[in-house]
Amino acid sequence: MRILITGTAGFIGMHLAERLLLAGHDVVGLDAITPYYDPALKLARLKRLERFHTFINHRASLEDRAALDRLMRDFKPEIVAHLAAQPGVRYSIDQPAGYVSSNIVGTFNLLEAVRANPVRHLMMASTSSVYGAGVAPFRETQRTDYPLSFYAATKKACEDIAHSYAHLYGAPTTMMRFFTVYGPWSRPDMAMFKFARAIYAGEPIDVYNSTGARRDFTYVSDVIEAITLLMEKIPSPGGDLGSSPQAPYRVINIAGGAPIRLSAYIAALEAAIGIPARRNEMPAQPGEMTETAADVTLLRQLTGLIPSTPMETGVRAFVDWYKDYHDA
Ligand SMILES: NC(=O)c1ccc[n+]([C@@H]2O[C@H](COP(=O)([O-])OP(=O)(O)OC[C@H]3O[C@@H](n4cnc5c(N)ncnc54)[C@H](O)[C@@H]3O)[C@@H](O)[C@H]2O)c1
Repeated sequence: MRILITGTAGFIGMHLAERLLLAGHDVVGLDAITPYYDPALKLARLKRLERFHTFINHRASLEDRAALDRLMRDFKPEIVAHLAAQPGVRYSIDQPAGYVSSNIVGTFNLLEAVRANPVRHLMMASTSSVYGAGVAPFRETQRTDYPLSFYAATKKACEDIAHSYAHLYGAPTTMMRFFTVYGPWSRPDMAMFKFARAIYAGEPIDVYNSTGARRDFTYVSDVIEAITLLMEKIPSPGGDLGSSPQAPYRVINIAGGAPIRLSAYIAALEAAIGIPARRNEMPAQPGEMTETAADVTLLRQLTGLIPSTPMETGVRAFVDWYKDYHDA
């Protein structure tokens, strides 16, 4: 199959591309290598993908509509996995503009390119953050009208815009709501990476709401497994299995449905590293949700899969990679 992935130099994009290339698919990537975090890490991820001689990454931005159109026209993908975005809850408080251009304008450009070059299935990354002030466990059908961060608001806007495009122009679209994905090659702005860096440096870690906060941490390989299984679960209108009554469009939670406390997560990291963390206990931060937990009924119905890599296994794999990458 021909698959276009946006955000191929990113954490989840690289893992997805690698899995699909290993399975023998034709994969083309698009990534602008934005400077949100160390571009060297993004380039190292791309280098890992370049061992597949068929793999090409186009260094272009989603805001460059002509580049996007050209790529779609030339490559003619059957599936598009749109993962490129400006992520991060906290950063969106200080720097909202990048979220408008990457997430809203960028997604609009992608939808226009897909409209001009129809695909079998458009899969797009969304987030548990859209549940905002809702009550966990989160079900896809519950209201998402109360985002707590601007990041969440832009992702929610992408969901709604994509629904209207699916309704008007018919591209089957799946919105994948990811829940705190972790594992090797993860993002330096995420808690596990920041904690590991501080622990190795002998510095204290800032822990926000350690006893109150719970997250439905999901190991990256489980997420990739879910995405690849969902590729063939193409939504059609009619309301069946979570699809929209009006459009070939579906929203789905991708998580294990087993949230854990931040303190337990840190304990697993300390055990894998073999050094106890010094903690600065801090209050909850603005924009952060207290708890994320997925209802995974729909994921199980559609794929038979429940992400279930044990936290200890996933954290150890992250630490092994972290040491290797930093030559620690
Ligand atoms: N990692 C998580 O826990 C998590 C949770 C929920 C949702 N998500 C969503 O999943 C997707 C992938 O997340 P990730 O953790 O791999 O993030 P990432 O930042 O590692 O990857 C995103 C990639 O997109 C690229 N990009 C950003 N803006 C771009 C633009 N305007 N044009 C072209 N490329 C651009 C970046 O250079 C980066 O390589 C994102 O849409 C994110 O919002 C991630």
